[in-house]
Amino acid sequence: MCGIIGYIGERKACNVIVDGLKRLEYRGYDSVGVVTEADGKLHIKKGAGKIDELKEKLSLLEMPGKRGIGHTRWATHGIPNDVNAHPHTDCSGEIAIVHNGIIENYLELKEELLQKGHKFKSDTDTEVIAHLIEDALKDFKNFEDALRYALLRLKGSFALGIIYTRDKEHLYFVRNESPLVLGIGDGEMFAASDIPAFLPYTNKVVFLDDGEYAVVTKNSFVVKDLKTGKIKDKKVHEISWTLEMAEKQGFPHFMLKEIHEQPKAIKEAIYGNAEVIDQVAREIANYEKIFIVAMGTSYHAAIVGKYLFQRLTKKAPVVEDASEFRYEFEDLVDENTLVIAITQSGETADTLAAIRLAKKRGAKVLSIVNVVGSMATRISDLVLYTHAGPEIGVAATKTYTTQLTVLTMLAIALARHLKTVDEEYLRELEAQLYEMPKYVEVALGYENKIKALAEELKEKRDFFYIGRSVSLATALEGALKLKEISYIHAEGLSAGELKHGPLALIEDGVPVVAVAPSGKTFDKMMSNIQEAKARGALIISLGDNEELEKVSDIVIKMPKVNEVLSPIVYIVPLQLLAYHLAVLRGNDPDKPRNLAKSVTVE
Ligand code: G6P
Repeated sequence: MCGIIGYIGERKACNVIVDGLKRLEYRGYDSVGVVTEADGKLHIKKGAGKIDELKEKLSLLEMPGKRGIGHTRWATHGIPNDVNAHPHTDCSGEIAIVHNGIIENYLELKEELLQKGHKFKSDTDTEVIAHLIEDALKDFKNFEDALRYALLRLKGSFALGIIYTRDKEHLYFVRNESPLVLGIGDGEMFAASDIPAFLPYTNKVVFLDDGEYAVVTKNSFVVKDLKTGKIKDKKVHEISWTLEMAEKQGFPHFMLKEIHEQPKAIKEAIYGNAEVIDQVAREIANYEKIFIVAMGTSYHAAIVGKYLFQRLTKKAPVVEDASEFRYEFEDLVDENTLVIAITQSGETADTLAAIRLAKKRGAKVLSIVNVVGSMATRISDLVLYTHAGPEIGVAATKTYTTQLTVLTMLAIALARHLKTVDEEYLRELEAQLYEMPKYVEVALGYENKIKALAEELKEKRDFFYIGRSVSLATALEGALKLKEISYIHAEGLSAGELKHGPLALIEDGVPVVAVAPSGKTFDKMMSNIQEAKARGALIISLGDNEELEKVSDIVIKMPKVNEVLSPIVYIVPLQLLAYHLAVLRGNDPDKPRNLAKSVTVE
């Protein structure tokens, strides 16, 4: 969505802000803006474009002042242009705001403010907030009171950073349904949409909850309830993420670095959950009605989760895209229901809405989350962390394979508890799961071959990814990766569906990527591959069976693993293929057009 950051301390604020915005760019990158205060005046620079371009063009690092806020935008209201870039100010030019989220009642508020004579400069919903506070200042002497009064009139989602020239010692930050974290330094304070923004300066953080605001000076912070104004007791968390984790470390893109981090991330996911998984399994063992909800890549992890549960626990969860779940399944959710929510960020609006609905209906919610302290972790009954470390590339990679790791551990622990599968089989599976980092290393070793393949395929217009059973998820995720970052049309589908329509689109040279590990459905996959081949498709298959050589143009020979574990390793070549195609086509894989890492609007 958007990224916001604020700084108050003894450093040159613009340096900290621009540096932080760079780390938040994954949240949005169509416009950038910075405001600092010096000598009782606001200094604002903003424009459409990416930070690296604007840093020079607008001389963002030459702004005076030791307190300020900044914004990187992913447009919702108003096209991405210089005027709509944040920050936005009131008529007096003394209040500046940066905002992540959407103000749902902004039109009605704007109308009212226009009638009172306020002059608007942009088409954004955010500008309304600055004028609303200005208006409230007529009735309240104290800025904080005016702020509260104005903010309580807003409907929608917002994380805000607010600076007011006359209130020299403070910055204000507000959270409602959009993420915001305070960073506690020594003689300096930070706030941002996400921790990596200020990770070079501090690892002490305070997570704001919905309906809270923070009043921050360089030496202190107070968090209060927006409705009552009462001070809230907040815990300072020390997080274990390091700066190194949030930097590229010599890789040309975060995405490539994160693809290569998978062996380590999977290891962390295994060891990070080894001690807690049995307890969680015990707590959910008796639920028969299970929904798994998620969006995007996490939704594909949910599909793998479904197969794991079916095969190992003999339970058949319903997998639903969280945005659909809310509207279609409300009546089916009750206190006998378990909802498993999967979300990297823990902030995806649709997934949070699904969790809230489940809680309201009395269901038990288990969330599988990467970002520690994120909203999903705070509103769920149980949480399992993926321990993947910060993921900056917009397209999810290591958080997907760690989600799969955690889901596999959970299914094994449940099966053991329920005695639905032989203990010996479970032990073998577990042993292989522990070997997964090694298998993923093998798959990463194919990078040069895949790069060469990407060179061959870079002019192709359409791709089809097919798979059966648990590999259907790999086909869907492989196609999603390609769409997201290379902008090539790609469809992921069950191989059995091919002849019910999509086969009509296969002609000479159309790439069909067949995800074909040995297992229950391998023979059927072979037939489906042949059907495509007979229509001229260029077959690229991934598998461990020699037979594939006979029907494929290119085989990516995969390590032999149990079919239910194959999604963890089979997705790796497909991530690399999407990455190299994106780079060869001149795209920035870390910042795909029109997309954002964390979608905090529904
Ligand atoms: C966005 C991102 C995807 C991600 C999805 C769900 O669309 O671009 O990479 O899979 O959101 O995000 P979550 O944080 O809930 O896993």
